[in-house]
Amino acid sequence: MKGNFIYSNPTKLYFGEDSLKFLNEELPKYGKNVLLVYGGGSIKKTGLYDEIVKILKVNGKEIFEDAGVMPNPTVEKLYEGCKRAKANNVDLILAVGGGSVCDYAKAVSVSAYCEEDPWDKYFLRMEDVDNKIIPVGCVLTMVGTGSEMNGGSVITNPATKQKIGHVFGENVFPKFSILNPVYTYTVPQYQMVAGFFDIMSHILEQYFSGDDDNTSDYIMEGLLKSLIHSSRIAVKNPKDYEARSNIMWTATWALNTLVAKGKSTDWMVHMIGQAIGGYTDATHGMTLSAVSLPYYRHIMPYGLQKFKRYAINVWNVNPEGKTDEQTAKEGLDRMEAYMKEIGLVMNIKDLGVTEDMLDGIAKNTFILKGGYKVLSHEEIVEILKASM
Ligand code: NZQ
Ligand code: ZN
Repeated sequence: MKGNFIYSNPTKLYFGEDSLKFLNEELPKYGKNVLLVYGGGSIKKTGLYDEIVKILKVNGKEIFEDAGVMPNPTVEKLYEGCKRAKANNVDLILAVGGGSVCDYAKAVSVSAYCEEDPWDKYFLRMEDVDNKIIPVGCVLTMVGTGSEMNGGSVITNPATKQKIGHVFGENVFPKFSILNPVYTYTVPQYQMVAGFFDIMSHILEQYFSGDDDNTSDYIMEGLLKSLIHSSRIAVKNPKDYEARSNIMWTATWALNTLVAKGKSTDWMVHMIGQAIGGYTDATHGMTLSAVSLPYYRHIMPYGLQKFKRYAINVWNVNPEGKTDEQTAKEGLDRMEAYMKEIGLVMNIKDLGVTEDMLDGIAKNTFILKGGYKVLSHEEIVEILKASM
């Protein structure tokens, strides 16, 4: 393993079917005013909203609601949440939902007391927080992003067609997260599989970088195998507790900073996927599935040994009698078959992308340097064309 690093993660997790009761242990740590943040209403349908309101009341909390957080939360919604949090002198933001709700809660937590426009400061200029931060707690209902145990917050500005993520420091990580796999049973199939691929993509973004012998790569191969195994079960039976709980746990470890240790990390699939999201408002995981294979087939020659290792260790390709290229290619072919099997979107046309958008999407793609090949604008356009 190369490089120096610090590892620490401040989020306390409560995992399992009985985990909601631990909200009673967390709530007394914070003041009276709680901003209850949630999405478009799934938590009302499932009854989780009622359970949480009851616990908040038993603990003597005053509840202020911030509902209607949309998938891919917008900057307008963020401004609205900031006003509400500040006006009500909120002591804790309780996010109940998926990654969008958790991301939004973190954005409000750093922005409510920010004296500048938070979009400019955090998402365009990527500055650190230097004002009061409202603590955030999460009750997760949809699995994929890892937002429950990281500092990521992705906000979309529809006016400029930009979707940008800021990775905040430990002071912005959720203070606690409650992870009950049963809550994920009701996630619609399309969102569920998109979440599965988001997990896979998070792992691959970190795996496909570096050329040293790194413990993080072995951990990631294990996480990938568990994910592939359990996701195949969950698509057939969404109520298989063992599969859903393994996937929930894998998602958290895929993006809680652990497996990035000692890695330069790539993240270009996410950069392209986010730029597509800025244009189309498409589901995050599907923007990743639609561009991944064209991207990986493009960079494979530059990281051939790692792609060969991926084929053998994750997809059980037998390398005997094959060139390195043949082995590596067979790994990506097996990945493609798996993606089709679980029902992922395999091209960006299906997400509403049209030819006239390609140049703009490529322009809005941040080019990062941690992977096997630093892409040019033209290469991004080529990858997008191959994803049509
Ligand atoms: O809004 P409601 O009604 O709750 O419905 C949601 C939403 O429509 C629904 N849902 C969630 N839990 C449910 C449920 N429906 C029924 N039963 C349940 N138990 O699912 C839909 C999608 O929810 P969303 O939160 O948008 O999905 P996800 O968790 O995939 O989050 C996506 C957002 O996270 C960002 C993405 O860019 C996107 O904006 N990301 C955040 C990251 C991070 N913090 O580190 C990293 C990721 O790469 C990603 O970029
Ligand atoms: Zn993602």
